[in-house]
Amino acid sequence: MKLKFGVIGTGHMGHYHVNVLSMLAPQLIEFIGIYDTDQKRASEISGTYKIKSFNNAEELMAGCDAVSIAVPTVDHYNIGKKALESGLHVLIEKPITINVQQAEELVAIAEKKKLVLQAGHVERFNGAVQELKNIVTNPVLWEARRMGPNPKRSLDVSVVYDLMIHDIDICLNVVNSPVVSVEACGQKVISAQEDVASALLYFKNGCIATITSSRVTQEKFRTLSISQHDSYIHLDFTTQDLQIVRQGSSMTTTSADNIKYRQESVIERLFVHKDNPLKCQFQHFIRTILGEEPPHVLNSMDIETMRITGKIIEKIRGK
Ligand SMILES: NC(=O)c1ccc[n+]([C@@H]2O[C@H](COP(=O)([O-])OP(=O)(O)OC[C@H]3O[C@@H](n4cnc5c(N)ncnc54)[C@H](O)[C@@H]3O)[C@@H](O)[C@H]2O)c1
Repeated sequence: MKLKFGVIGTGHMGHYHVNVLSMLAPQLIEFIGIYDTDQKRASEISGTYKIKSFNNAEELMAGCDAVSIAVPTVDHYNIGKKALESGLHVLIEKPITINVQQAEELVAIAEKKKLVLQAGHVERFNGAVQELKNIVTNPVLWEARRMGPNPKRSLDVSVVYDLMIHDIDICLNVVNSPVVSVEACGQKVISAQEDVASALLYFKNGCIATITSSRVTQEKFRTLSISQHDSYIHLDFTTQDLQIVRQGSSMTTTSADNIKYRQESVIERLFVHKDNPLKCQFQHFIRTILGEEPPHVLNSMDIETMRITGKIIEKIRGK
């Protein structure tokens, strides 16, 4: 029997959820329907994908085994709790909730009811990010930058929860060592929350991470550079390109009338299987529910990501 799925919240991100679930149905799942408080939006999506729009969340949940939740972050906790308490497996967009306490509560309910709860950290399913775990062995410096122009949405939450959380999550998962100190600063520019922020994390294994995020930069890019003792790794999240620089050396030779500078290195371009990360995320969610594979990332890591994200906000706001 196929798992019955529903989507709650069909705005910018929820639309993508509907798109992916429509691709996975009917082979992998049965797509039961959607619910959005904005009836105009719900009927647009319902019409485009020929999928039933329900009058309320409860009615939709009653016919489902699993739901994905892509409502504004402040409502993740209430709707997620209702779904878990109704016995449904839940995929909630990131950030999973607005604070650690709420996240811990949802994880506890899921564990008690033996349900799968997954946070929508879609970058975890980026092919290049998956490859990182195989090549990052002794990181000493982690530099992540996620910048772009005003997205004209999600301005109700800090850029730390909107963008930086992706890099915090990947960094914690790959560096895999406790964070011993956090420094951060940020600034409001176009909204009532931080629109630019920079954080400095220091890990027990000695790795230093600098993470910068902005939603007021006129060029969009998402990049990561990692220095290790014997290699320098560069990842572009947008193109899923990954390259490793090794054996770097530089030399200067001076003569009476000239200075010559020479730099050499070996650059390895890694072949990464480029698939739709959101589709991979849902496929993994389904396989985890069916017991076909263990979760890529444990819920305890989701909580750690929330804890460090919260600490960065506290540092910025001087609490
Ligand atoms: N993983 C990512 O890369 C990523 C990217 C963007 C947004 N997000 C997350 O997705 C979530 C939604 O963001 P968005 O940009 O899609 O917002 P959005 O405003 O475009 O969409 C939210 C939708 O939820 C609906 N809604 C509001 N309250 C509801 C309720 N109680 N029940 C049902 N529907 C309700 C709204 O009508 C709207 O259509 C946020 O938590 C955000 O952080 C994640």
